[in-house]
Amino acid sequence: MTELDRILETWPMLQGKGPGVWASFARVLLDKGKSAEGLALALAAYDHPDCGNRDRLIAGAVLNEGVPKWHWRLVRDTARNAAYEAALARVVGPDTLVLDIGAGTGLLGLMALRAGAGRVVACEMNPAVARMAAAIAAANGVSDRLRIVAKKSNDLVLGEDLDRRADVIVSEIVDNGLLGEGVLATHRDAVPRLLRPGGHVIPGDGAIIVALGHDPTLARTRMDVHQGFDLSAFNKLAPSSHILPPETPGLRLLSDPAALFSFAFGVPESWPGYRAEVPLAIREDGEANAVIQWIRLGLDRSGSDDAVHEVRPGRGSSWGLVSWPLVSPLSVAAGRRVRIAGERTDSTLMVWLAE
Ligand SMILES: C[S@@+](CC[C@H](N)C(=O)[O-])C[C@H]1O[C@@H](n2cnc3c(N)ncnc32)[C@H](O)[C@@H]1O
Repeated sequence: MTELDRILETWPMLQGKGPGVWASFARVLLDKGKSAEGLALALAAYDHPDCGNRDRLIAGAVLNEGVPKWHWRLVRDTARNAAYEAALARVVGPDTLVLDIGAGTGLLGLMALRAGAGRVVACEMNPAVARMAAAIAAANGVSDRLRIVAKKSNDLVLGEDLDRRADVIVSEIVDNGLLGEGVLATHRDAVPRLLRPGGHVIPGDGAIIVALGHDPTLARTRMDVHQGFDLSAFNKLAPSSHILPPETPGLRLLSDPAALFSFAFGVPESWPGYRAEVPLAIREDGEANAVIQWIRLGLDRSGSDDAVHEVRPGRGSSWGLVSWPLVSPLSVAAGRRVRIAGERTDSTLMVWLAE
């Protein structure tokens, strides 16, 4: 019995109906919390040859729910992809079992196999994404060596989802501020439990880099006088940070950059505390209006040119820079020193100019 047959048997009112009714009912199932059945029904509707354009939009909205847009951006980030593939190629061989945490499309697992890994288990916590990753593995003819497990890494069971501890853990679960996708909590659980002693973690290191800068877009993120009325009180409701494309024209760094927090993902006991401060040397005169923050990944410690992947201003990336506006602009002159402070939890970050 197929998955669709099982669903049609469970909800007899769907029998004899076509993809239009399936698509609408898929939404009902999803809203009732029956996401596995909802996804399966939406997919059956979407793929059905009689599914019309309107019904495909309805089915597509069910499939797309909760799937971040950045999936489409990051697979095109060739510098990111190449850095991962090179790092994988340095450690995998035919006997290597790779655990890919956060499969997404399955790209890292596919690259691990191409780099020579024997087997990959890739877990993915978003059920719709996991389904597509499995379809992609099949379409690429590697289902026997790339197994997608639709689970969060914390729920993986050794001896069930993985027949032994992995030789390599690879993941790309870092956002613009490094911590927002739970990279720390995930590694704190996965490394001691699912990686063999001495195994490799890719990326091995992640750092949060800060510099004092001038963000040319800042005025556009604040209210001023509009239609003759002073609306500036509304700025108290403004987000404390915003994202800038790394190639933002007119963006200037006025200080040298420095790492505020650095993490060796494979060594949780070495992680820094929740508060940090770093001195920065001003390198050119100007009016600073924001702390500019970005991430740097150390894929491995091989020392190879491509082992460090940094989201630097001026260099295209699927990640953005984060602008943390100062309370008020600050005129700085070359040679002066300032201090930047930050606080983090496992999954949040705040950055400011220390008084
Ligand atoms: C930024 S995407 C990366 C996708 C793919 N690995 C790549 O590099 O192209 C991160 C994916 O990891 C998943 N994810 C994040 N943390 C996870 C965890 N602890 N266990 C399983 N999946 C996770 C998210 O749902 C998302 O699909």
